[in-house]
Amino acid sequence: MDFKQELIALLQKETRLSEEELANLMVVPPDPKLGDYAFPCFKLGKNAKEEAERLKGKLKLPDFVSKVEVAGPYLNFFLKNKVVIEETLSHIYQEQKEFGKQDLGKGKKIIVEFSSPNIAKPFGIGHLRSTVIGSCLYKLHRALGYEVFGVNHLGDWGTQFGKLIVAFRKWGSEEELKQEPIKYLLGLYVRFHQEAEKDKSLDDEARAEFKRLEDGDKESIALWEKFKELSLQEFHRIYKILDVNFDSFHGEGFYNNLLEPSIKELQQKVKTVVSEGALIVDLEKYNMPPFMLRKSDGASTYHTRDLAAALYRLKKYKPEKMVYVVGSEQKLHFRQLFTVLELAGIDKKKLVHVDFGLFRFPEGKMSTRKGQVIFLEDVLNKAIDLAEQIIEEKNPTLQNKKEVAVMIGVGAIIFSDVSNDRIRDIEFDWDRMLSFEGETAPYLQYTHARSCSILRKAVKEHNQGVSPHVNFELFDQTEEIAVVKKLYGYPEVLEKSALSYKPHHLAHYLIALAQAFNEFYHKCPVLSEDKNLTKARLLLVDCVRQVLENGLNMLGIQAPEEM
Ligand code: ARG
Repeated sequence: MDFKQELIALLQKETRLSEEELANLMVVPPDPKLGDYAFPCFKLGKNAKEEAERLKGKLKLPDFVSKVEVAGPYLNFFLKNKVVIEETLSHIYQEQKEFGKQDLGKGKKIIVEFSSPNIAKPFGIGHLRSTVIGSCLYKLHRALGYEVFGVNHLGDWGTQFGKLIVAFRKWGSEEELKQEPIKYLLGLYVRFHQEAEKDKSLDDEARAEFKRLEDGDKESIALWEKFKELSLQEFHRIYKILDVNFDSFHGEGFYNNLLEPSIKELQQKVKTVVSEGALIVDLEKYNMPPFMLRKSDGASTYHTRDLAAALYRLKKYKPEKMVYVVGSEQKLHFRQLFTVLELAGIDKKKLVHVDFGLFRFPEGKMSTRKGQVIFLEDVLNKAIDLAEQIIEEKNPTLQNKKEVAVMIGVGAIIFSDVSNDRIRDIEFDWDRMLSFEGETAPYLQYTHARSCSILRKAVKEHNQGVSPHVNFELFDQTEEIAVVKKLYGYPEVLEKSALSYKPHHLAHYLIALAQAFNEFYHKCPVLSEDKNLTKARLLLVDCVRQVLENGLNMLGIQAPEEM
């Protein structure tokens, strides 16, 4: 089924390029009129057009290729429709949920660190992006055959916990803590800052308290563990709604006992200096502020904990790559970290910061602004409520309304995130997000539900199920072929999305597939008197249903059968 791979093997014989180079050069032309694959001949010689002509003359065409054409510097390959159609539909029919999976990453390990919210603070909208982009990258790499470890690097250590413990000892109550833990802890944290304005000694108390925590004081640790436990309970509720999973919840605090050994290990390879009582790696040469390993009071920093985490993960998992899905505002932090790790001899190709822009809320439109934070759970609940209202309008007799509303509401939020190139900031827009048309999750879900409904009707009214034994010659409409070509491209899109760490490629692909399907649906009646044609088209509908489901699930979105 992998025609691209076969073309690469063919080109490998006739050029001096490696398989990898060829794979990187080969593209799918944006306009199908230019063929199914295009190979740019720049690397073959000075005059690429001549090289393309020469190559064309030399190639012995395999029987799945109908023709090759030279267009400028490109050699364009056209595949035989019948072969592509039969291969693609048969594969999807056989492989079902597995369709799209590959073994490119076989035997390779990759760590995807994502979500990483801070405990004792609400799970804010800010951590949504890392959560959904990270979760998608996790799934995509799994699908490519990598062994993936999903790590949630909880923000559960640092001076702020000194502050929180001081605040809780002074003003806290166990009773109130239990009722609404995170809101309560947030309140205590805010109060600490207010009081510290008036009484500077509180900050010193907090620093001393954090030191006690780092030194392993039993009472302090017990309190910290309680805060952590209560926070995790809330986070798990959100992860459940979003259907996101992790292999490890080792947060910053986990590395407490590894901090000093990590500093020692680093010092064997990298020069450290004491500056104003603090231990640092000077990064002036690299035009960056120093990497701080130990503060003058002996406390660790965000840097130290990331250093320890990186060294620990490299030893424990021996990954090919360590991917950090963290917002662009921490770019400098990761440049510093990666530079220090590189100085310590770690191959920088292993280290990837997958950064992303902010989620922007148009002021006023959203109701729930509590303090400075927008609670993600409130956003999700609002989306679910809105989805429920829309269902009530459009399909009041639907059986499992609540369940479907969750799928649509949550799907809309996830999609509005992952469908944007992660580098850009996103404007949050309820109307656009929950629309059943345009580039939204509900549009994809609706198209999926439509395909399910056609299949149901075929069984009920025409007594016709889906079968792979159809006459593939019957697919001769442009719209049919356009749909199949899209389906054929699915595995390649998964690969591209994973290797570029950009799930929006998959999101855009799904929109294009749904559009192609809807054009087909309007032009070509599926259920007709012609039994053979009906059978053929039902197979196509079923394959679209499957790929929409697979792709949506890859993005973390459910595909309802009815809505
Ligand atoms: N907890 C941090 C925050 O919310 C994100 C952690 C990012 N990961 C890391 N290894 N530093 O800003």
